[in-house]
Amino acid sequence: MPIIAPSLLAADFSNLRHEMHDVSSAPWLHLDVMDGHFVPNISFGMPVIKALRPHSPAKFDAHLMVEPVDPLLEAIAKAGVDHITVHVEGNPHLHRTLQTIHALGCKAGVAICPATPPEALSYVMDLVDIILVMTVNPGFGGQKFLESQLPKVRTLSKMIAQSGRDIVLGVDGGIDATTTPRVTEAGATMLVAGSSIFGKEDRAAAITTLEQASVS
Ligand code: DX5
Ligand code: ZN
Repeated sequence: MPIIAPSLLAADFSNLRHEMHDVSSAPWLHLDVMDGHFVPNISFGMPVIKALRPHSPAKFDAHLMVEPVDPLLEAIAKAGVDHITVHVEGNPHLHRTLQTIHALGCKAGVAICPATPPEALSYVMDLVDIILVMTVNPGFGGQKFLESQLPKVRTLSKMIAQSGRDIVLGVDGGIDATTTPRVTEAGATMLVAGSSIFGKEDRAAAITTLEQASVS
């Protein structure tokens, strides 16, 4: 079964602690940090993550859509996240960034936008713990899944197998009961889902639906 990572971006921001509790059957919580510069939207940052941290046992999975990212790494780690995922785009020193994330005691992730080829990750396969294929353009929840990204998931799945390392392959954007079988068949082992979980009345049932829709 894939790891389900509910994206708090789709939650009711006036009630975050309760919303987080409502998805506690999922092992990860996906936290989208946006700066209004790398992406055309602003979400939440370290103070909010720090406030939520004591109230959940989930792995806090931060997805940083900020540029530059390096100056924020220490503060985001101190806010209590377990994973820090940065974008391959707009970061000429990605290799060093991943080393820094490890030095801070976190798992290191790399997110890859729809227009970026999978080979952009070729020379960091020895450092990366999580690969996050964006199946929408980052910045907003509730967008339509981009079919064009399926071959990229396949290619990265093969690259992971060749590396011989235990790397989580996630997908982010437009993931629901219809797209889940397609991405898991292509090799995804982690699913980020915002609207298809928080948009439902029964969030625990929505999480189970995604787990069961997967092709293992
Ligand atoms: C988009 C974010 C996603 C977003 C996904 O930039 O990275 O995590 O919350 O939202 P849905 O699941 O609604 O497409
Ligand atoms: Zn995300």
